[in-house]
Amino acid sequence: MPDVDPKALFGDQARDPSEQAGLPEVSEPEAFRHYVRLSEMNFAIDNAMYPLGSCTMKYNPKVNEWAARLPGFAKLHPYAPEHLIQGALELMYRLEKGLAEVCGMDRVALQPAAGAQGELAGLMMIRAFHQAQGRSPKKVLVPVTAHGTNAASCAFNGYQIVPFPAGEDGVVHPEAIAPVLDDDVAAIMITNPNTVGLFEKHLPTIARMVHDKGALVYGDGANLNALMGRARPGDLGVDVMQFNLHKTFTTPHGGGGPGCGPVGYKRILDPYAPVPTVEKSHDGTYHLEFNRPKSVGRLRSFYGNFGMMVRAYAYLREMGAEGLKGATDLAVLNANYLRAKLGETWHVAYDTTCMHEVVINDKHLGKTGVTTMDVAKRLLDYGFHAPTVYFPLVVKGAMLVEPTETETRQALDRFVDAMSAISREAHEEPETVKKAPHLTRLRRLDETRAARKPVLRYTKKPQG
Ligand SMILES: Cc1ncc(COP(=O)(O)O)c(C=O)c1O
Repeated sequence: MPDVDPKALFGDQARDPSEQAGLPEVSEPEAFRHYVRLSEMNFAIDNAMYPLGSCTMKYNPKVNEWAARLPGFAKLHPYAPEHLIQGALELMYRLEKGLAEVCGMDRVALQPAAGAQGELAGLMMIRAFHQAQGRSPKKVLVPVTAHGTNAASCAFNGYQIVPFPAGEDGVVHPEAIAPVLDDDVAAIMITNPNTVGLFEKHLPTIARMVHDKGALVYGDGANLNALMGRARPGDLGVDVMQFNLHKTFTTPHGGGGPGCGPVGYKRILDPYAPVPTVEKSHDGTYHLEFNRPKSVGRLRSFYGNFGMMVRAYAYLREMGAEGLKGATDLAVLNANYLRAKLGETWHVAYDTTCMHEVVINDKHLGKTGVTTMDVAKRLLDYGFHAPTVYFPLVVKGAMLVEPTETETRQALDRFVDAMSAISREAHEEPETVKKAPHLTRLRRLDETRAARKPVLRYTKKPQG
């Protein structure tokens, strides 16, 4: 490596190259204990129930980890020639076929590394589709209930966002779309089930309206956990959608990655799909296809987060069609069980049959001064991660509860008991809730500062 002046790279933080790095010198057991201790300070799905709505924190089956660690997958070099990676290519090919079947699309591009990047990929394909027809519509319709990434992906792709309201019943209605649907609309972005946990029952009608205007339907598939095996976005009129494999297909997530957000799309969008695609040749071998002149290009280094693809494929094969259907049924049943049970104490925002998650809020806490955030913190003392708080934005003081299919009836009951106890405390001893958590290693943190200014650098403690 050529000589580089450390000062040019690191400024005042630069270290004299002759100086020791100052890393801690510890034995293997001490290092091990350090990391185990750190892991114990964290909350994880493998410790307890994690009903973080919208995030689908479902159990990550350990057989997925076994598969992803098989040396034939884990030790592949990304530059290995195609004839040496036939197994990996076949897995990607098969995963694409499986996902396409689940969502009712013609093809699936596997590379995007997150749901949000999948959204971006889909919108880029929509733009390329319109451009190929000599059109350049500028607007995308997005309901006010949408996840923040939808608007961000539109903006990132140069689209103007046109928000429209959801009905009193929590779902979007054709009448709300008609006034904003004009010739300058490129697409509508719609999440189904939506972020308040309800099935968008007017989607087929809305899709017809949108298609009649020459626009396309983007389906945010992050909530596919409530549909897979039972309904397919492609059959409901969606043209392009992203999967969140790190939610629906049990690949681990949290802490920012690694994710995987494949994009399923209908045939009309095929020319614009990201490269490379995985193709099967006539002689039965697999190869990566880069020669796609109308493609939106490459979105990710190499082929995406391949380890996530192995895990998702393991899950698909483990579950089979019936298993996926069963998972969907249980996810919906569990959420409705909580809706009924929590509804005995808490205010349910939309008290109608929900899909895989339910929104409650802090309305009944009234003058106690206890807020949704206090409840979230107090839940940690009871051994539960909090639901998603203050989202969806359309519900004041929202708590979005998503139990997932992998929680038992006993776990759900314990959660309901904890929520009832917190409600009682809020009325009888509000300070206990307001000052929570009391039993965690660290007390209430400044979460904004923790996210914006994380302390990531090891600092050597002064000697003596
Ligand atoms: C409805 C919805 N859409 C999109 C996303 C974005 O997915 P990711 O976090 O993988 O970028 C999420 C994530 O929580 C989501 O819930």
